[in-house]
Parts: sequence; structure tokens; C-alpha cells
Amino acid sequence: MTALRERTVTILGSTGTVGVNTIELIEAGNKATPGAFRVVALTANSNARDLAAQARRLRPAFVAVADEAAYAQLKSELSGSGMKLGAGIEAVNEAASMRAEWVMASIVGSAGLRPTLAAVSRGATVALANKECLVCAGDLFMSEVRRSGATLLPVDSEHNAVFQVFDAKQASSIERITLTASGGPFRTFTAEQMAKVTPAEACKHPNYTMGAKISVDSATLMNKGLELIEAHYLFGTAPERLNVVVHPQQIVHCLVAYLDGSVLAQLGSPDMRTPIAFALGFPDRIAAPTRRLNLAEIGQLTFEAPDTERFPCLALAQRALLKLGCAPTILNAANEVAVEAFLARKIGFSDISRVVESALEKCESAGRAPRSIDEALALDAAARSCAAAMLTN
Ligand SMILES: NC(=O)c1ccc[n+]([C@@H]2O[C@H](COP(=O)([O-])OP(=O)(O)OC[C@H]3O[C@@H](n4cnc5c(N)ncnc54)[C@H](OP(=O)(O)O)[C@@H]3O)[C@@H](O)[C@H]2O)c1
Repeated sequence: MTALRERTVTILGSTGTVGVNTIELIEAGNKATPGAFRVVALTANSNARDLAAQARRLRPAFVAVADEAAYAQLKSELSGSGMKLGAGIEAVNEAASMRAEWVMASIVGSAGLRPTLAAVSRGATVALANKECLVCAGDLFMSEVRRSGATLLPVDSEHNAVFQVFDAKQASSIERITLTASGGPFRTFTAEQMAKVTPAEACKHPNYTMGAKISVDSATLMNKGLELIEAHYLFGTAPERLNVVVHPQQIVHCLVAYLDGSVLAQLGSPDMRTPIAFALGFPDRIAAPTRRLNLAEIGQLTFEAPDTERFPCLALAQRALLKLGCAPTILNAANEVAVEAFLARKIGFSDISRVVESALEKCESAGRAPRSIDEALALDAAARSCAAAMLTN
């Protein structure tokens, strides 16, 4: 490996699957080039035990849990360590505001919006895994990126792929961006079979190990819908130029079609360590210990159109993307509530789309897009209440 440039880093959501993969790459980088990465802050929600174990290895200056109930355990795990500790959402925002050049935004859900924006606002390089913050407040988020001069690096594998083949100087020559989708664990299921699936089955993604929320989103195809909205904001691509193709092998991560008929794709084994390594080394390339792609061994790559009748969440997200205004914020909030309820076995898998659809119908009268982060979070809260009320009906 070539020597790495020294870099200070913070990981928001370090105990999640993206956070853990990021730490693995940081530790490998420090082994190859001692001192390459100095960790400034680590955060989690309530998993104080794993957070403390990471902190003991990486020696950050600041460690925070969002859930105040987890503070006592964090304090006892790290007593005498000399690290500054914090609890509550303000402590997570403080972690994001500390002077680290590079920040991994890997908190799940719209809870990641404020801390990610805190890192953006001070002009940091932000590796963005948290797609929900763009869906919740995309225009506001991107205008803050432009105002602050922050560098935004997409970590979602499809968006990272687009970032690698999107020629910004030729943006007006791009006809279409296609995101690939695995189709999830229920790709071949009938609607009747899907009505009976359990949270454990929904969390078994065919190609990736991921947190519970994104796993369920992948199973409903809402994840791909959220990603279309994410792509719209990240690349400024008109909604009608964005589409999805199901590609179960997940080797091709995106297709960017130019008006001369050329289509540029990015390929790689399905492994989040590739896009994370891309962001961690940017603008250089650093090594990632992933399975090397061998197309002869794979033999066949297949593609099919998504079925929005069996996967209505994708159609709902596409509708929100065409509508924009307040629709993406409502879609995202209602989906977070519905997925949590499904994981808690309060509703069935097929009810997820019903809750989201009803919330969109009930709240869409709110109309325009939020004009401030406070407005976005107020809309998010209202849509959550609306969706929560539907769970009990
Ligand atoms: N996993 C993937 O392969 C993948 C791929 C592309 C994009 N993403 C995106 O990356 C984000 C993270 O995904 P993940 O799979 O890593 O999720 P995850 O495994 O569920 O981890 C989420 C992280 O966020 C923390 N967290 C949860 N709620 C929080 C709150 N209210 N305030 C502060 N921190 C909170 C969790 O802490 P605790 O551990 O204490 O709960 C954990 O560190 C999601 O937006 C997802 O869509 C993930």
C-alpha cells in the first residue's frame, strides 16, 4: 500500500455496520501507515459497550451516546481513560462540530440530519452514508454544502458508483442515471407470501450484512426509492432521468448514460468497504480487503425491471420524487415509523406501504418543501405522528 495522507476523522454512528466497516479500514490503514488516521470523536445511540471498546482501541478525544440512559454505562466502561464523554443529541452534534477533517455520517434515519449538517456547516469532508437526511431535507442540505464549501462524498454503493463515473463537466450530456437493486430477499415472492414474512427473514439481505432498518428498506425496495431521491439531490438530476433496474448479483452498481449512446458503469464485488475506502482515501485510492471481481467465475449478470405492484414502496417513493415539495420528508418519516413497527412485530410486512401511503395522502396538504431545518424536522415529527396514529387504527 502507498503511504496514506494523515487525516483526522470522526465517525457518527460508529457502532453500526457502516461504522464498524469504517473502523476496520481505519485500523488497517494505521497498521500500514502508523498515525495515518487520528480519530477525533466516535458516537452511537445506546450501544455503550461496543462504543467503549472502539474508543479504547482508537483513543478519540470525545465519545458520545445520543441516548442519555446509556451514559452511565459509557462512563463506567471508560472511567479513567481521560477521554471526554457526552450524552444526548447535543453531544452528538458537538462531536460532529469538532475539528476533524473527515466525517463519516453513518447514523441511521433522520436523526442523522442535524449532526451531519453540523459537519457540513464547518466545511468538513463528509462521507455520506445516511441517505435519510437528504430525503428529509435535500434542498436545504445541498445548499448548506455549497455555502460551506464542504466536500460531500457519497458512500451508498450506487451513489458512490455514480460519483465515480459522473462527468460533472458534461452533466448536461447525461441522459439517464440507472441505480441497480438486488431485489432483496423477496424478489421472487408473491404478494401473498410477502404478507407473511417475519422481521428476521426481511433482514436477510442476499448480498450485504446491514443494519435492520436498511435491510427492511431493501426488502420492500423503499431503499431504492430513497436512493432515487438521494441521487436527485446529490447529482442535480431531474426525477424523470432517474430509474432502477433489478440486478440480483449486485456487481454493476450504476449505469450513467450519455447522449452519444455511451453508458458508463462501475463494477465491483458487493462490499461496503469499497465505497467506504473510496471516501476514506479521497482523492487518493486506498486498499480495501474485498473479494476481487472475477467475471468468468460469476458467469452471468442478469437484469430485470422492478415490479412496483409487488413492491409498492418503490412506486410511492417514485411518486414522492416526481412531486417533491414536502413529499420526500413525509415519505421518509412515515417509512421510519412503519419499519420500526414491523421490526417490533406490530404490523405485517405488507402494511409498511399502507402506512406510508396513508401518511402521504393525509399530510401532503402541507405542500411546499421545508424552508429551514427546523421546518423539516417539524414536518418529519408531524408525519411520524400521522403514521403512528395509523398503526393503532
Ligand atoms: N449498512 C449498509 O451496508 C449501508 C449501505 C448504504 C447506506 N447505508 C446507510 O447508512 C446508514 C447507517 O446504516 P447501518 O446499516 O450502518 O445502520 P445500523 O447498523 O443500524 O447503525 C446505525 C448507527 O447509528 C446509531 N444511531 C441509531 N439511532 C441513533 C440516534 N437516534 N441518534 C444517534 N445515533 C443513532 C447507532 O447506534 P447504536 O448502535 O447505539 O444503536 C449505530 O451506530 C443508514 O442511513 C443506511 O441507510 C448503509
